[in-house]
Amino acid sequence: MALTEQPESSICPHFPFPRQDVPAEGVPWGPDHDPLGLAPHYEELGLVTRVSLSDGQEAHLVTGHAECVEVLRDETRFVRGATPGWPAPDGIRPYPTTAPTLLCMDGKQHRLIRGLAGNAFATATIHRYRPMVQTLTTRLVEDMLNTSQPVEVNQALGMPLTLGIIGAVMGVPEQDLPQFAVWGDLFLSTGPDRDDDNSRAKQEMAAYMGQAIGQRMASLDSAPPDELMTSIAARAAAHIADNPGQAEQTMTDTVIFAASLVIAGWETTAAAIASFLFRLLTHHGHDGTTLYRQLCTHPERIPTAVEELMRTIPNAAFESAQPRRAIVDTELAGVPIKAGDLVIAAIDRANRDPRTFNDPDQLDFTRAAASQHLGFGGGPHICMGAPLARLELNVVLETLTQRAPNLRLHTPPQDVQWNTATTIRRPAELWIQLR
Ligand code: HEM
Repeated sequence: MALTEQPESSICPHFPFPRQDVPAEGVPWGPDHDPLGLAPHYEELGLVTRVSLSDGQEAHLVTGHAECVEVLRDETRFVRGATPGWPAPDGIRPYPTTAPTLLCMDGKQHRLIRGLAGNAFATATIHRYRPMVQTLTTRLVEDMLNTSQPVEVNQALGMPLTLGIIGAVMGVPEQDLPQFAVWGDLFLSTGPDRDDDNSRAKQEMAAYMGQAIGQRMASLDSAPPDELMTSIAARAAAHIADNPGQAEQTMTDTVIFAASLVIAGWETTAAAIASFLFRLLTHHGHDGTTLYRQLCTHPERIPTAVEELMRTIPNAAFESAQPRRAIVDTELAGVPIKAGDLVIAAIDRANRDPRTFNDPDQLDFTRAAASQHLGFGGGPHICMGAPLARLELNVVLETLTQRAPNLRLHTPPQDVQWNTATTIRRPAELWIQLR
């Protein structure tokens, strides 16, 4: 049965559910409240549930791990972009409009544009960035240690590290990086002017990157060979040479791709750094010590800790991947899905599916299945920067636990304010004391 044909009387919860990181008006958080937790509403749901969205459309909300993997991976059944006859699932409220980035493309166009980055972020080659990530992390942590005053994590560590690294990888001059921070916030804005903010960010980024990529294309021989922008420009130029009829479209897609790599490359990982620290400093193990102290004693657990923290901490406000649309009549967990239906993979809930993760609410830094989480999505749109994000998160935890074992929160956990200006979930400010 198609969504629209379902009887009106059947229960259709509204999605997204109330955010746990934003207090309901007039209701102070109790000491056990977890702002990084998921809404209790999921407890009532089956693996696939019909929900209504804030723009009036309905969708199938998929909460099972195996079922989310199907939605994310199977391009023969579920796609991102516009399908003739159906409105595009991109930009349906409350989700941000991702067009015309990689995240809204499908099939051949998606593979072509994603391929412009070559293997720059592949797991097998990412280690070449480790010395650069380590040097910058050490410098920032040393600066933090040099003051006896509390420091703010986003400003002192998360943002300069992640923006600095993606800027260096791409070849964006340091003085231009703050502008990308502004564009990122506009692109992912949740404010009343979000549509205007979003299109302003796209126009300005396209103008900036159009010039930067255009210059490299015009003089490829003298462009810095180690910068990712140069190889993106070279691959785009080669494609245009072979397909002159696609020149305009390829240029448009290329400049937005290059710009979106910079914005995707920093705030998500900066958010993870702050949220990870919040969780590590506020949760305790069986022996009563914080999880942070446990990592100081057991640094060999950091790689699995990164996966467990990714698994249990939502990075996006809506706890889900971008909506997909079914392109054939199909089913998920026995629930019929009609061609044209919207389907939303609730990846953060899937990351707590007990069929995949035993005792799923427990953070277990020795869990064998930890890396099966869907925190980086899956299938053709799996996060391009996941290996870089993993590298940065590992280096940050290694360096902090080694250099600052006494690190603690400066403000009580219930006084931490959470970001609502963009769709990224993170503490708006996280003040810590290192010494
Ligand atoms: C902890 C940090 C990060 C998290 C949690 C994260 C999460 C995600 C998720 C869930 C998706 C898939 C969304 C969907 O299918 O609807 C995605 C896609 C993407 N991410 Fe990340 N990401 C992170 C870091 C990064 C970094 C460092 C970069 C760039 C270097 C990056 C670049 C991208 C790009 C380009 C896509 C789109 C891929 C495509 O559509 O083919 N991300 N990310």
